[in-house]
Amino acid sequence: MKVNNVEMIMSAVRPEQYPDNGFPEFALAGRSNVGKSSFINKMIGRKSLARTSSKPGKTQTLNFYKIEEQLFFVDVPGYGYAKVSKSERGKWGGMIEMYLTDREQLRAVIQIVDLRHPPSVDDCIMYDFLGDYDIPTIIIATKADKIPKGKWEKHKKIVKDTLHLRAGDPIILFSSEKGMGMEEAWREIESRM
Ligand code: GTP
Ligand code: MG
Repeated sequence: MKVNNVEMIMSAVRPEQYPDNGFPEFALAGRSNVGKSSFINKMIGRKSLARTSSKPGKTQTLNFYKIEEQLFFVDVPGYGYAKVSKSERGKWGGMIEMYLTDREQLRAVIQIVDLRHPPSVDDCIMYDFLGDYDIPTIIIATKADKIPKGKWEKHKKIVKDTLHLRAGDPIILFSSEKGMGMEEAWREIESRM
């Protein structure tokens, strides 16, 4: 998809605040600092519409990005970030879980993992959770620019095997730095709209 028109609709912490025009939604999931917001920016061709940071914990609410009056990307706070209080973590967990399990417009979750490392325990828990709720998942293995091309396939296999990737869930090598994987990611998204 060639994206010209993007609107940051809102930051929401409660279901009443979610947009209600029924467009299909694609929510990002992944560890803090893995590159969720950077993925959105790359896919929509904006340098910094979704706020990114080298420090984890940047995104703290559900942020809806309306693309071409057709779909939403939903940026979601990352998991596995220790430096927030337990009660804060509980609140986020509740908000995210409710969104993921109750949201009719949700077509797929885009789960971002770091291609350089095997998926973490938290990554696996998230992926299993999505499977338990029959939520289609697109795995994006990002930061591919940080390892040599010759190692991509080996790392991809480790990601697949560690997650126990389900049939029908694609895995795409990606780089927000280089733009690698964008077309394939758009194809997967558009086929689910
Ligand atoms: P939270 O909002 O804290 O959950 O983080 P996030 O998952 O949204 O991560 P974010 O997009 O803010 O990126 C975190 C850091 O990783 C930033 O410094 C990015 O520049 C960097 N980064 C993200 N994607 C890539 C990539 O594909 N390649 C490289 N080299 N760096 C990346
Ligand atoms: Mg973010």
